[in-house]
Amino acid sequence: MSNKDIPLKKILISEEQLAKKTKELADQLSKDYVGKDPIFICVLRGAVLFFSDLMKNLDIKCSMDFIAPSSYSGNLESSGVVRLLLDLRENIKGRHVILVEDIIDTGLTMNYMIENLKTRKPASLEVCALLDKTENRKQPVATKYIGFKIPNEFVVGYGLDYQEFYRNLPYVGVLDEQKIQKK
Ligand code: IMP
Ligand code: MG
Repeated sequence: MSNKDIPLKKILISEEQLAKKTKELADQLSKDYVGKDPIFICVLRGAVLFFSDLMKNLDIKCSMDFIAPSSYSGNLESSGVVRLLLDLRENIKGRHVILVEDIIDTGLTMNYMIENLKTRKPASLEVCALLDKTENRKQPVATKYIGFKIPNEFVVGYGLDYQEFYRNLPYVGVLDEQKIQKK
């Protein structure tokens, strides 16, 4: 994929900035959860690159699991319709849980996940999200660990997609909707 094929307005967060922030978050999590043997849950699919980099930087005993809420089905706006396409393998009762997400936008997805996981009686439950679009929030979300607050623009890369493409970009960029419409 050559750069001219990527419909971006600009790069918002560089590869270097992502690496630095991920390391900072991992250091903080390692301090906060030492001795607690936490379980990190990757919210598929958007969080997958962030999750992997975060995990490599943790220096505590921990486990991993995966969960998949339904996606936007290609739209630029949240549908608000949330259900689970894939559930956890592990029993999280009594465990210290950290939900790792790519981005919190309206907050609908994360609130659904939090309510769902709370019914399983974890010892604690926190959210670690790479990106936060606070302007677009419809429901408040308690997010303890946040990478970057970003403006209300549609972004792709480092796990985030537009119609399932561009997840593999090593940076986060702002999608250029005009370039997409011309295609
Ligand atoms: P929410 O329910 O509106 O908070 O949406 C959260 C989910 O929507 C995220 O986990 C992403 O998968 C997706 N999403 C929200 N904003 C963007 C974006 O700018 N680019 C790509 N995906 C997004
Ligand atoms: Mg997501």
